[in-house]
Amino acid sequence: MSEKVVLAYSGGLDTSVSIKWIKEKYGLDVITCTVDVGQKEDLFEIEQRSRKIGALAHYTIDAKDEFVNDYIWKSVKANSLYQGSYPLSTALARPLLATKLVEVAEKEDAVAVAHGSTGKGNDQVRFDVTIRALNPKLRVIAPVREWNLNREDEIKYARKNGIPISESKSVFSTDQNLWGRSIESGPLEDPFEEPPDEAFEWCVPLANTPNQAEYMEIEFEKGIPVSVDGKSVDPVNLINYVNAKAGLNGFGVIDHMEDRLVGIKSREVYECPAALTLIGAHKDLEKLVLTRHELAFKSKIEEEWSWLVYSGLWQEPLRSELDTFVDATQERVSGTVRVKFFKGAMRVVGRKSENSLYEHRLSTYDRTSTFDQNAAVGFIQLWGLPSIVANGKRLAKRANGRMKTVPLARRYSSSSRKNGH
Ligand code: ARG
Repeated sequence: MSEKVVLAYSGGLDTSVSIKWIKEKYGLDVITCTVDVGQKEDLFEIEQRSRKIGALAHYTIDAKDEFVNDYIWKSVKANSLYQGSYPLSTALARPLLATKLVEVAEKEDAVAVAHGSTGKGNDQVRFDVTIRALNPKLRVIAPVREWNLNREDEIKYARKNGIPISESKSVFSTDQNLWGRSIESGPLEDPFEEPPDEAFEWCVPLANTPNQAEYMEIEFEKGIPVSVDGKSVDPVNLINYVNAKAGLNGFGVIDHMEDRLVGIKSREVYECPAALTLIGAHKDLEKLVLTRHELAFKSKIEEEWSWLVYSGLWQEPLRSELDTFVDATQERVSGTVRVKFFKGAMRVVGRKSENSLYEHRLSTYDRTSTFDQNAAVGFIQLWGLPSIVANGKRLAKRANGRMKTVPLARRYSSSSRKNGH
């Protein structure tokens, strides 16, 4: 009996080819594993395909709840946007997938795990680091990276070996889960070229969105969304609902230049309607209930958190230590945010919380104000003191210098030049 390898199987070309390829090149029996993180694909069909190509066994694992509770909600609490734009939809799912692969490998007594990542992207790092951190004994095989496979070769290999490949001729390479859809390649590789409407599946083209604005109310409890539009629903359905409603209004498209971990700049296009809506609303609620000191410090933590997760270090202790800090800040982040969608835009138009730090009697300009305006005078004196002292020094120096300045005419006369040299 041959030794076994567990392959992360999406049903796509790379991983379909990998089933045969690994068997042929390494002589290992391949067990495929498809993890459901809300990619909304026909999982039964994927299982059939895997068996048809020759996998020894197949696992379909529903990890949607785990994905939301242990990954997505952490990223909402951390307002996580890599380089200020990308809500890490693909990045968050990779460590979960890797964890499931390791679990299956241990159960099956496999000697290796395999994934279909290329050698150019971030996903290989996320898989490899997580797998090695969880079980250093497992070998990691990445056929596309190891053999430098390209699409044409893969198609040729598939035809030769009778591997069924889907006939959809999409020029785009995509990856999707509950938290978003990544779209790459084809015309998108020219950063100046506008993404065509066909690139999108979740966000309606602006010309076809409703002509009337739509509102949404999101209730948070300790930083986590618990109900939308007055309905408490389970986390997975909550995200599906927000994706659908925001997407119908054309909101959620991201088109930005991204720095990959391996040093490549790439033009990345995403559809992340729920992620952008929920993070936007959450961020706004925090501004109502956290102090400015908490907000300023937390934003630095958020940047570090996003960087660690983007760069494949989910298992890094610092990541969970930062989560401990973030969780502490979320104790008071409960309340409701109202947002408005219209023609591809989302705007927060209202927020309320029992933990609100907003005091009407302090901020109002009307007669009821209890804020003592005279107290501002002393405050300003001390607040500005360091800057005023420093600037005073500069002014004094300049005044001194001016007194010593030699008149221009003399400075450039021939006699002064001679004297000077
Ligand atoms: N640039 C994004 C990331 O690194 C998206 C990657 C998409 N991955 C894919 N296999 N199509 O997270």
